[in-house]
Amino acid sequence: MNKKIKLLIIAGARPNFMKVAPIIQQIRRHSADVANYGTQLEYRLIHTGQHYDEKMSHIFFDELGISAPDINLGVGSGSHAEQTANVMTQFEPICLQEKPDWVVVVGDVNSTMACTLVCAKLGIKVAHVEAGLRSFDRSMPEEVNRIVTDALADLLLTPSVDGDENLKREGIPDWKIDLVGNVMIDALTLNLEKARASQVLKKLQLKKKSFVYVTLHRPSNVDEKVGLTTIMYELKRIADDIPVVFPMHPRTRKMCGQYGISLDNNKGLRILEPIGYHDSLCLTEMARFILTDSGGLQEESTYFRTPCLTLRPNTERPITVTLGSNKLTNIEVLASDINEVLNRRTEIGQIPPYWDGRTSERIVASLIHAS
Ligand code: UD1
Repeated sequence: MNKKIKLLIIAGARPNFMKVAPIIQQIRRHSADVANYGTQLEYRLIHTGQHYDEKMSHIFFDELGISAPDINLGVGSGSHAEQTANVMTQFEPICLQEKPDWVVVVGDVNSTMACTLVCAKLGIKVAHVEAGLRSFDRSMPEEVNRIVTDALADLLLTPSVDGDENLKREGIPDWKIDLVGNVMIDALTLNLEKARASQVLKKLQLKKKSFVYVTLHRPSNVDEKVGLTTIMYELKRIADDIPVVFPMHPRTRKMCGQYGISLDNNKGLRILEPIGYHDSLCLTEMARFILTDSGGLQEESTYFRTPCLTLRPNTERPITVTLGSNKLTNIEVLASDINEVLNRRTEIGQIPPYWDGRTSERIVASLIHAS
């Protein structure tokens, strides 16, 4: 019997692109495999347009080898309500027209939640990749997105066992949950060779294991004047001792401008435009340590066993702390945490189970099984 499954795959913001790329590659591999057990997979890639700049979006399509999206909803920036509502009103007619069997959403951005809500009302099944992560901090917009998406999704594909536990505690039945592993690590392993060929260290005149790689963009760190000023002051101080590379997210740059915080590069502090995926992986592997508030970097540094200090009071990725190389920090204890990191080995922690580069295979198998 020949079964056909039609998927719409959603990507909206920067961290989504690395997650959809290996899934698309696996779908293509499945379609090319003559022994695909009679199941045909067909997909369309939908870009909501939440991120739209060359350096926040297009560059990743080129680097990850994903062809241009079949449909771009072009929603752009806005308040949370505006952005969510715009994705919903643009996405609903696409669903009605395309009639997919499944919509596959990834991560925890506004586009993830908005598309899930549309499907729930239309009776279209949703598979959530990276389900079950919880920071237990509802002041984070992403936490609200995670809770809503997981409550409505039909298939919850988790990256680690804590995800399963969180979902079960919230009353999600076992049969909806599948521990498939971390798809970010599929993207990482697929791109490792290219990342290692990156010229970024040479370009920035940095030496292996003797610089800090910084990324900060969370509203809780960058949206308030006192907090952001203190962070930037602290970065300048760190840069007196060890070079600091800081590719700056547009949100952070906008807030620095608004608060009159100088972005002049001093001796050791290098503030850059956002960088591409291969350069970022290269910096993550080669840094002495990472200072970040990004979810993806907590995971990538865990894979490389590069020490990571996460400037947040909590993380939805606790396995990066219990097993991996991650430690939560705050501005008061940052100096002593850095001191401690510099006095430890350059490689720490372990790689969690199922972070093996084969998650997209398990995702596709799970989708077929659930259809
Ligand atoms: C979004 C996600 C966050 C993710 C981050 C990764 C939500 C709630 N947040 O946050 O989880 O970690 O993406 O980058 O979905 N901007 C540009 N160019 C762009 C995109 C945005 O200049 O291509 C500027 C705009 O001024 C915009 C601001 O950045 O107002 C913030 O963008 P937005 O998508 O609202 O949230 P992020 O902070 O990027």
